[in-house]
Amino acid sequence: MSLEKTPSETCVLVTGGAGFIGSHTVVELLEGGYQVVIVDDLSNASEKVLDRIAQIVGDEAAERMSFIRADVADRDALEAVFESFPIDRVIHFAGFKAVGESVAKPIEYYGNNIGNTIALIDTMRAYGCKDIIFSSSATVYGDPDALPLTEQSPKKFCTNPYGWTKWMIEQILMDTATADPEWNVVLLRYFNPIGAHESGLIGEDPKGIPNNLLPYVAQVAVGKRDCVHVFGNDYDTPDGTGVRDYIHVVDLAAGHVSALAWMNGRTGCEIFNLGTGTGTSVLEIIKAFSEACGRELPYVIEARRPGDVTANWADCTKARELMGWEATRGIAEMCRDSWNWQSHNPDGYGE
Ligand SMILES: NC(=O)c1ccc[n+]([C@@H]2O[C@H](COP(=O)([O-])OP(=O)(O)OC[C@H]3O[C@@H](n4cnc5c(N)ncnc54)[C@H](O)[C@@H]3O)[C@@H](O)[C@H]2O)c1
Repeated sequence: MSLEKTPSETCVLVTGGAGFIGSHTVVELLEGGYQVVIVDDLSNASEKVLDRIAQIVGDEAAERMSFIRADVADRDALEAVFESFPIDRVIHFAGFKAVGESVAKPIEYYGNNIGNTIALIDTMRAYGCKDIIFSSSATVYGDPDALPLTEQSPKKFCTNPYGWTKWMIEQILMDTATADPEWNVVLLRYFNPIGAHESGLIGEDPKGIPNNLLPYVAQVAVGKRDCVHVFGNDYDTPDGTGVRDYIHVVDLAAGHVSALAWMNGRTGCEIFNLGTGTGTSVLEIIKAFSEACGRELPYVIEARRPGDVTANWADCTKARELMGWEATRGIAEMCRDSWNWQSHNPDGYGE
């Protein structure tokens, strides 16, 4: 447990801070007055994001940001970070996230996601830093029995190694908090983050063929891909396509700042869903994006993809009542900002 501190007195280590959600969170942290140390090995990110973050927040705030290129699993590198900076809290984004790839490369996924978390929390313990926010996922709920999903909804079998890494890291962190009451753990279960910063300077930059719907739709809109593939139109949903709870990445980023403030001076382990509470179908997303980019986006219906669930959306009452956090942006803003990013940066950060 750290002592209660104001944002300007708090130094936050952000692992994976150069990535999609991490970069948006770093912006919110700097704008909230925090000191930020990013550790990222750039395995799925570009160093260019740092200049973009600085452009958004301005030079003065950017001076509170440091970047170390390192693998979180590299204990020597991590120790050097803890020696150099007075880290108070950690937000742990670093990990591999492509569901399909995880099926093909389970050893890499378990190795990186779980291995780097163990190295991180072991190093944190050695330096007496026991406050951590972890990026978990609605994937731990599996195929839900009932909607909306609350934090009490049961964790189910995951359908891929990526999901299992989230499931297991949650368990590791819960056990850690049980064994040592000084730990202060917040597990944030994200629903489907999309969109981009409204400046259009930072956004999602997937390498290769996008795994998730929105970046794929955005690449169709910009002419990089022919048409959207819709996997299944015979689900038990209003239009037959899968339904998800999409959340604007800036709302999600703000959720981390709310969690940091809420955990100040606490101990234990708490779980929060971060979503909007509203489900949107694949066809509704394609329609909303078509409106945002000003042309009808073509799509084809394909067979269902193994492992996809019919529908999920969150009950976010707990985050609202305890942390005072609520998503404020709707699907139209998510598509608008995603299009703004994609159309100004058709090749992402250009690497
Ligand atoms: N994007 C989503 O849909 C989603 C949903 C739920 C949970 N999450 C989780 O949120 C976190 C961030 O996701 P994202 O979408 O920003 O992904 P991302 O790939 O854009 O960001 C992850 C970052 O971690 C870095 N990284 C990976 N392994 C590392 C290591 N060993 N050491 C240092 N850096 C490393 C990558 O270079 C990248 O910058 C991930 O843990 C992801 O699993 C994402």
